Amino acid sequence: MPDDKKTMPADNNEINRRAFFAKLGLGSLSIATAGTAVFAYQFLSPNVLYEPSPIVNAGKPEGFPEDSVTLDVNSGIYLIHAKEGFFSLSAVCTHLGCLTAWKPDLGIIACPCHGSKFNREGEKIEGPAPKPLPWLRTWVNDEGDLMVDRSTTIRPMQFVRV
Ligand code: FES
Repeated sequence: MPDDKKTMPADNNEINRRAFFAKLGLGSLSIATAGTAVFAYQFLSPNVLYEPSPIVNAGKPEGFPEDSVTLDVNSGIYLIHAKEGFFSLSAVCTHLGCLTAWKPDLGIIACPCHGSKFNREGEKIEGPAPKPLPWLRTWVNDEGDLMVDRSTTIRPMQFVRV
């Protein structure tokens, strides 16, 4: 008779315990699968940093009167209309990268961080900056807008005549 007990169907408690552990196992497997899928997606998606274009449309030349220095804070450039023509400079200080400011009363570009000063052509006058402010490639596009490429420096004194 004791053998019959082994072959008898399990009681309700045993079935419930089995079902509980089966569901627990399935739940754990589902969570592990979901986590693996998330990490696999992150691993397989391209690790690309999307940055804004280095090309800046500064607008019509008429917006820049002769002998003016205009700082575009958003793009970090100066657009300068000299009597020889237009040119643009990076407004980022060559010392530690602070944004410089045009001082019209002094006629200089000054860095607020450590006191570097530059003339209107970007040459260093004083301060710790190791290099002049770079000239940036500037041109007029087919629509007549002044364009500046922040990623391309050029030799100084290359003016754009409109
Ligand atoms: S960052 Fe401009 S002088 Fe230091």
